[in-house]
Amino acid sequence: MSIFLDSAQIDEIKRALQLSFVGGVTTNPTHIARTGRPGLEVLTEIVDLVDGPVFYQVTAHSLAERLDQAWEAHELRPDKVVIKIPGTTENMRLVAQLSEAGVECLVTAVASPAQAYLAAQVNAEYVAPYVNRLTRQLGDGVAIVRDMVRILNGTQTQVLAASLKTMDEVVATLLAGAHHITLPLDLILALGDHPFTQQAIEEFNASMQSTG
Ligand code: G3P
Repeated sequence: MSIFLDSAQIDEIKRALQLSFVGGVTTNPTHIARTGRPGLEVLTEIVDLVDGPVFYQVTAHSLAERLDQAWEAHELRPDKVVIKIPGTTENMRLVAQLSEAGVECLVTAVASPAQAYLAAQVNAEYVAPYVNRLTRQLGDGVAIVRDMVRILNGTQTQVLAASLKTMDEVVATLLAGAHHITLPLDLILALGDHPFTQQAIEEFNASMQSTG
């Protein structure tokens, strides 16, 4: 069960890696665009920083071009780069072909357990439901994660939940059985803190000071 950082900002990645519990980095085309740099250049810098997996999405218009993009990214660091491919029926061919060749794939933006089922049929390593977006657009993103986890039980395909916006949503998603989560830096930094704990620390510090 891994926690990933959802970002392509190098300063955020460096900060997250200092924490020692962040297992890798998920990027998406929006994150890459925000850097203002070419995707493969950013990817190269990220894989040099991160020990674990780095997820990179293919975006080209045709299937053949997306396949070329996938190979180009994979060959940068075959041991680290995981190819993100949006979950369409057509794209499953791409996932099948890449998985068969030993390239790890994540089927992204999946919204239904049927898509997760199909991703497992073509040996995807991961599926990524966007929990908060699903809740906003379809009603209950956490319930969709729960159904995906049930359908994927016994397959090699794992749920990597994305688009998590609050701590409650993170916990509900983990309780629904998500195998991995990816979070923005602010949520990662908030994971280990709680006002109750802070209050206890302050009380203990006050006790120490009063006893000299
Ligand atoms: O990487 C895709 C996913 O993280 C989207 O999240 O925050 O744009 O809903 P968000």
